[in-house]
Amino acid sequence: MLKKLFGRKNQSNKDNESENFSDLLKNIDSENMPRHVAIIMDGNGRWANGRGLIRSAGHTAGVKALKRALNAAIDFKLEALTVYAFSTENWKRPTAEVDFLLKLFSDYLEKELNEMDQKNVHIDFIGRVDGFSPGLQAQMDDARKRTENNTGVRFTVAVNYGGQDEVVRVAQALAREVKMGSCQPEDIDAKLFESHLDTKGLPAVDLLIRTSGDMRLSNFLIWQSAYAEFWFTDTNWPDFTKEDLAEAIVDFSKRDRRFGGLSNQK
Ligand code: IPE
Ligand code: IPE
Ligand code: MG
Repeated sequence: MLKKLFGRKNQSNKDNESENFSDLLKNIDSENMPRHVAIIMDGNGRWANGRGLIRSAGHTAGVKALKRALNAAIDFKLEALTVYAFSTENWKRPTAEVDFLLKLFSDYLEKELNEMDQKNVHIDFIGRVDGFSPGLQAQMDDARKRTENNTGVRFTVAVNYGGQDEVVRVAQALAREVKMGSCQPEDIDAKLFESHLDTKGLPAVDLLIRTSGDMRLSNFLIWQSAYAEFWFTDTNWPDFTKEDLAEAIVDFSKRDRRFGGLSNQK
């Protein structure tokens, strides 16, 4: 049945193709759906450049794309969506751009929190949130607390996040536990390690999407993506639509995930 549907891709018109992906998604078995989708939302600057606009216009447009992506995740009944909003390396950018991004993030939380709460979204944040102003930290705490009992999509925003930084913090926490005597070095295994990650409680990343043509992780979810399927698109993040997400999920559903074992496909 699925093979028959996937084979049916002969439309040249992009809109028709997009409709096709949304239709296909309705036919995907739940076991072929990703539980956890992670997105590296890249290309805001290039989107703005291409239109003769300043980079901040690209970031503003990127927020609209984020809203679309979250609504799509709700429609597609994804269990978890994690997005990369600001990396530990992004502090290298000019102060004016960093300030703009942080203000945009704060405005986004202020404007969208009610609607996200009404849509049963469970919001969380990963990364070194203690690197932010007390005001922004309070906003994030508020969003987290207000939505912690929501049972819909788990929406995680990675801010001041770096995968290596996260792994180092886990190593420090475990070293402290060993020093205090509450655990022994040989007690440390992947499960214990994972329970100390910022993403504890979330399933591993199944599908990792990066927009804008670059094919790298840029320090995102390095532990959690160990067996993720990667999906890249040349589309810049501000142009990313629900149909692009549908296309990525349809593609994911066709992959043969072997996890080091042998194929289950006949
Ligand atoms: C992604 O877009 C947003 C952040 C990294 C915060 P960029 O700002 O990296 O856009 P490009 O890669 O320069 O086009
Ligand atoms: C990754 O994008 C970080 C975010 C999307 C927040 P970058 O634009 O910072 O990545 P590089 O510098 O191209 O690797
Ligand atoms: Mg970039």
